[in-house]
Amino acid sequence: MSNPTPLLLLLLLPLSLAATPPTPFPHPHSRLEKQTHLRFFWHDIVNGRNPTAIRVAAAPSTNASSTGFGAVVMIDDPLTESPQMDSKLVGRAQGLYALSAQEEVGLLMAMNFAFLNGSTLTVMGRNKVFDKVREMPVIGGSGAFRLARGYVEARTHTYDQNTGNACVEYNVFVLHH
Ligand SMILES: *[C@@H]1O[C@H](CO)[C@@H](O)[C@H](O)[C@H]1NC(C)=O
Ligand SMILES: *[C@@H]1O[C@H](CO)[C@@H](O)[C@H](O)[C@H]1NC(C)=O
Repeated sequence: MSNPTPLLLLLLLPLSLAATPPTPFPHPHSRLEKQTHLRFFWHDIVNGRNPTAIRVAAAPSTNASSTGFGAVVMIDDPLTESPQMDSKLVGRAQGLYALSAQEEVGLLMAMNFAFLNGSTLTVMGRNKVFDKVREMPVIGGSGAFRLARGYVEARTHTYDQNTGNACVEYNVFVLHH
């Protein structure tokens, strides 16, 4: 017998440590992999008493740019089941977008979908907001969406040119464990 674990050491192990062994790394492409499609509506409220999107930075030249180049906006946007703001909340989109194109209105999106049950999905991609459909990568997730990869399709549902407020339909397609 080589190197038996002393019983005393085992007894001294904190109970919580012994009760929660690390999750083994799943085999890639195993049958454990699941597919999920989610559909919800993202509300970007830049105006009014309770904005959910606030400009936190800009370049001195941003206001002179027809595409808003250089602005950075922090968001905590509600995600709801249907286009109505007061429909059932499924989570929030937290993160930021930056106006990163000079020739067109194009955003760099970096946001987490934080679902009410604590699971998250992370989206990072390019969003040419006036295109009919914008595809962006899902680069990860947590909780129910551990090891997630996939993509979203974003479609503008409504955009108010006067206020800048927008409601966007998101269809999310992910593989995860
Ligand atoms: C740009 O416009 C915004 C909103 O109208 C204003 O708050 C800000 O002071 C302006 N910034 C510059 C650098 O002119
Ligand atoms: C949590 O919520 C998401 C989105 O509604 C859902 O897809 C997922 O299955 C839920 N379950 C867990 C355990 O996170």
